[in-house]
Amino acid sequence: MSMGGFERLEAAAEAVRQRAGGAVHTAVVLGSGLGDFAGKLTSAVAIPYGDLPHWPESKVIGHSGRLVIGDVAGRRIAALAGRVHLYEGRDPSDVVFATRVMGRLGVKHLILTNAAGGVNTGFSSGALMVIDDHINLQGTNPLVGPNDERLGARFPDMTEVYSRRLRGIADEAAAAAGVPVSHGIYAALLGPSYETPAEIRYLRTIGADAVGMSTAPEAIAARHMGLEVLGISCISNMAAGILPEPLNHAEVLETTHRVRGAFMALLEGIIGRL
Ligand code: HPA
Repeated sequence: MSMGGFERLEAAAEAVRQRAGGAVHTAVVLGSGLGDFAGKLTSAVAIPYGDLPHWPESKVIGHSGRLVIGDVAGRRIAALAGRVHLYEGRDPSDVVFATRVMGRLGVKHLILTNAAGGVNTGFSSGALMVIDDHINLQGTNPLVGPNDERLGARFPDMTEVYSRRLRGIADEAAAAAGVPVSHGIYAALLGPSYETPAEIRYLRTIGADAVGMSTAPEAIAARHMGLEVLGISCISNMAAGILPEPLNHAEVLETTHRVRGAFMALLEGIIGRL
């Protein structure tokens, strides 16, 4: 992280405290088309990203760009609708800025959600997958550069990026809500082009079940800071070459919209059990 990076995080965290003070124990990053959950929060304070100092904004359709702090399932949480992706040409440190601000605010649990392509041919579009682990193929890492010991160690352990305990809680919440979930490995690619069918066969060979363009950097930065991480993918489409039709972002948004009821029930059940 560059000189002054820590001070930028602290300035943004302080701005959040000014607008919505009080303890926040969990933060949820809402993926493409999954931003509606932020509207479920009660006694909420919504802060457009543009109001927060140093906060990087995303321009991707389906990412509305606001931080909402409010109550759900009896817990005070932060919902982040909109995230920055590496494919936008942003620095890896910008991609994890929001994650780090959450860590500086004292959040203990980070729930990362995303829309992803199904690599496992047993999946179908609309399925929800608890991320058991990831394979980072983005060609970079948010921790590249000088290490700031105030955030975490130089060589953080990644043996259990996605908390076994939180994955268990996700299963309990899924069973209670009657929402079927699968488990699998998320491969993170740079994008923004979708993969070729040959790349998808390769990803399947190396053990991936889903593919997307986010989540891994935030999960790495969160573990660096000692946060407990949970990841949930909405399989918005089957990955390239599995079905005889091309991929497009409209399909991603259609599917996430279709499953938002189940997705939000699952999230609420998880948060209520934390
Ligand atoms: N590939 C990569 N990222 C994605 C996909 C996909 O098929 N679907 C949604 N995000």
